[in-house]
Amino acid sequence: MSYEIAVIPGDGTGPEVVREGLKVLEAAAKKTGFRYTTTNYPFGGEHYLKTRETLPDASIEELKKSSAILLGAIGHPEVKPGILERGVLLKLRFGMDQYINLRPVRLYPGVWTPLKDKGPEQIDFVVVRENTEDLYAGVGGFLKKGTPDEVATQVSINTRKGVERCIRFAYDLTRKRNKQRKLTLCAKTNVLTYAHDLWARTFEEVGREYPDIKQEYAHVDAACMWMIKNPETFDVIVTTNMFGDIITDLGAMIQGGMGIAAGGNLNPEGVSMFEPIGGSAPKYTGKGQINPLAAIVAVSMMLDALGETAAAQQVERAVMFVTANKLKSLAAGKMGYTTGEVGDLVVWALETLPVGAPLGQR
Ligand code: IPM
Ligand code: MN
Repeated sequence: MSYEIAVIPGDGTGPEVVREGLKVLEAAAKKTGFRYTTTNYPFGGEHYLKTRETLPDASIEELKKSSAILLGAIGHPEVKPGILERGVLLKLRFGMDQYINLRPVRLYPGVWTPLKDKGPEQIDFVVVRENTEDLYAGVGGFLKKGTPDEVATQVSINTRKGVERCIRFAYDLTRKRNKQRKLTLCAKTNVLTYAHDLWARTFEEVGREYPDIKQEYAHVDAACMWMIKNPETFDVIVTTNMFGDIITDLGAMIQGGMGIAAGGNLNPEGVSMFEPIGGSAPKYTGKGQINPLAAIVAVSMMLDALGETAAAQQVERAVMFVTANKLKSLAAGKMGYTTGEVGDLVVWALETLPVGAPLGQR
């Protein structure tokens, strides 16, 4: 197979980590035999400051012709909050109808977690975050802005179609994972008695088609508690856009931090986009200290979505070998290696590790 990969390195440390991701993609292609081309796109803060352009509609149409998108990071300290988020990142997610934000929370061997007495066995779940609706839809406005009588609204949009396709995806994924075969709906039905009633009813109705999958429910505040106290109780969590945004930062911390957390913005019927979920980290830009593993895991997720399952697994195993045996820490500047060296280590592990070899444990 041959793929056309659109690459948006973006801002800050984005280009540095994407470079390592592409290094590993190249090694995976050589090893497992798929072919690909890449096309770079300049969008992000630097491009905006130079041209005042965020993301033109024509580029969305062009990106729709690619096989997948690899994104570094979007965010610039000199650009007012909201412009790049809405104008680039959310425009990509919405414009390509990437209605699932898939965020695995998996503790790799050798990685430090702030949770005492929890290890890779206990921290292994996936969050399915709805990615096109809720408070993110951009519905709302001001009345009497700037006056003492000002009113501001931001409406949570929840459509039956949007909720159902997300929940259905989550049930299918739970079945495919075949671990605990348990899907937890994370919402706030005790307060959001309209919007989350729709979620709860849909969860239950669609669930009737999946009698082999256990259904659980957790209010979002309680889910935060369980993620810390008993993360092993989770298998797959399905949740709204806003709650998913929040709980996946919590998830990223228990899996070892932003250096390792990756996600996929999926349109299962269209073009998906993969990204390390940490931001542009301006503080570390250009220093060769940022951890590229999250971007490399994003590449593994991309390969999986493209159907290159063997390559995806081998990249993930190579990452696990490196966390288990090489890195001192996952934190930027504390890895014991530079950004480029970590990428090289993953390539080396990918090229030399016999498939099925034990990963070892520090
Ligand atoms: C994320 C980010 C984005 C979000 C921001 C940058 C718009 O926090 O990918 O989780 O809220 O979805
Ligand atoms: Mn977020």
